[in-house]
Amino acid sequence: MCGIVGYIGPRPAQLVIMQGLKRLEYRGYDSAGVAVLEQNGRIAIRRDVGKLVNLENLLGREPIHGHIGIGHTRWATHGEPSTRNAHPHMSMNGRVVVVHNGIVENFLPLREELQAEGVQFSSDTDTEVIVQMIERYLEAGMTMETAVRQTLNQLKGANAVVVMNIDEPDTLYCARLGNAGGITLGIGEGEMFVASDIPAILEYTRQMVFLENRQMARLTRHDFTVTDLAGQPIAPSVHTISWDPVSAAKGEYKHFMQKEIFEQPRALVDTLRGRVDFETGDVLLPEMNLTAELAQRINKLFIVACGTSYYAGLVGKFMLESLARLPTEVAYASEFRYHDPIVDEKTAVLAITQSGETADTLAASEQAKAQGATLWSIVNAFGSQSMRIADGYIAMQAGPEIGVASTKAFVTSLVDQYLLALALGTLRGILTTDQRRQYVQDLSQLPDLAGQVLDRDEEYQALANELHKAQNFLYLGRGINYPIALEGALKLKEISYIHAEGYPAGEMKHGPIALIDESMPVLAIATRDHLYDKMISQIQQARARGGTVIALATEGDKAIRHEADYVIYVPETPPLLAPVVNVIPLQLLAYHIAVRRGCDVDQPRNLAKSVTVE
Ligand code: AGP
Repeated sequence: MCGIVGYIGPRPAQLVIMQGLKRLEYRGYDSAGVAVLEQNGRIAIRRDVGKLVNLENLLGREPIHGHIGIGHTRWATHGEPSTRNAHPHMSMNGRVVVVHNGIVENFLPLREELQAEGVQFSSDTDTEVIVQMIERYLEAGMTMETAVRQTLNQLKGANAVVVMNIDEPDTLYCARLGNAGGITLGIGEGEMFVASDIPAILEYTRQMVFLENRQMARLTRHDFTVTDLAGQPIAPSVHTISWDPVSAAKGEYKHFMQKEIFEQPRALVDTLRGRVDFETGDVLLPEMNLTAELAQRINKLFIVACGTSYYAGLVGKFMLESLARLPTEVAYASEFRYHDPIVDEKTAVLAITQSGETADTLAASEQAKAQGATLWSIVNAFGSQSMRIADGYIAMQAGPEIGVASTKAFVTSLVDQYLLALALGTLRGILTTDQRRQYVQDLSQLPDLAGQVLDRDEEYQALANELHKAQNFLYLGRGINYPIALEGALKLKEISYIHAEGYPAGEMKHGPIALIDESMPVLAIATRDHLYDKMISQIQQARARGGTVIALATEGDKAIRHEADYVIYVPETPPLLAPVVNVIPLQLLAYHIAVRRGCDVDQPRNLAKSVTVE
């Protein structure tokens, strides 16, 4: 959940690291720090609590000069957010520093052992045992590389680390153990980078290597080597990243979330490009490695995901069951492992994840694979663990998503599931060529429809001005739009801190209706489909109890104006694709309410973009 950056090369390390950390601040932000090896051979550290700007100000007053360094933004797990607990952490004699993401599960016995040997700790973190252990091994006469490897071999849990030491002024070590987030090496000309995420170093290089589980790397300015934890050399693949560095910057937008919402038409175009043929109706998903034999063998699909990605899976269930007649169960990845799921060789498991590094989603995926399932993933972060462990994957074409609240990854994952459903429906003999061509045709209008919704942004802003003081919100939907009610409520609560619930509209009368009074805005998704009449009667029930109703309705539906206090119109969209369009006004409403309330939209309190701890 923390952000990590390291650098060796001719540039001022402090600048490169701070620039990278700014791109990663969304990952965690209760404190931050930088360590640089100075010309005098000593490591200087600057750390501060709160946002990165505090560290930036500190470095402005007390800069550190050198060409090798490491930095970190923290999301606290062990030890309160404070300067002493902020990373980097230094060993007792000042020879080694480390930045770390993850949890050292056995840190208590390791710390006791070190304390018994006289080591004094200066923080409450689990991280500090790593650096103190490395130094103990150095003192015992090991080389740095062996000391790092020996230490890593003793850590339990999922951990990612970068280590620097005073004895090798041109060398960084880094490693990945389990699923605590990625370690990406960036290969420059006469310089090397290391980061937890691609955007941190994308402006310097597009040549990247992704460390696998239980691999470590040694980097100098001109070279790098990768080994396993037994010291055996590994020949890594170097990937060329196609992401545009500009798309990882905020540009003229006030917030990343706003920018990412407005990028959705472009993301939809990119999602379709090269994957569908509008004339023949063909769907091309080469990285999925689908065959007719596999598509016909599987008799059950589990979708595993967390948060917004889980809600995307709830929408996908409608698509996969309707277009491919594949029985689909959607499970919270954090629960999947604990309910003894029935999984075998006839089961496929689909992980949906923007970051590709969510610990629970990876753990569920690994368990499913171990039980014999075919593992698929729909994933945005290229080269992430979820992509690498899957038997087949679809790379979302959302581009870097920086805002903590997920938006464009949600809509692209909906379309990716639709494409998967079409491909499976074809291979399973469910869809005729004509039917598939029609469903593919339906996709062609999507980017334009999304653009039409964005054009009405001023209306959502005006509505936000009316509603931003509400304490509670209810979102209602039915059928394929019920997950959109859940997603609308999640967006509102995570960035505006207003309590909001998404509910299946038909369930309202079984309990939640008791909550409705004049102070309760009720947002009802009532676009035209086979459940429209039923939604109208639920709107009437809410209105009869004094609730303020905001209806999300199909363009041209004049009658609904008599039923609701406010109406948000969206263009008519084929039913299976309606969620893609319907979610956009809800994203913007949440965004404007949060801005109106003065909330920190891109970095909401207590949240982190990639949740790499359980
Ligand atoms: C969404 O706005 C979230 N902040 C969060 O729920 C997120 O969707 C969840 O943590 C899953 O992340 P992933 O898609 O990267 O696996």
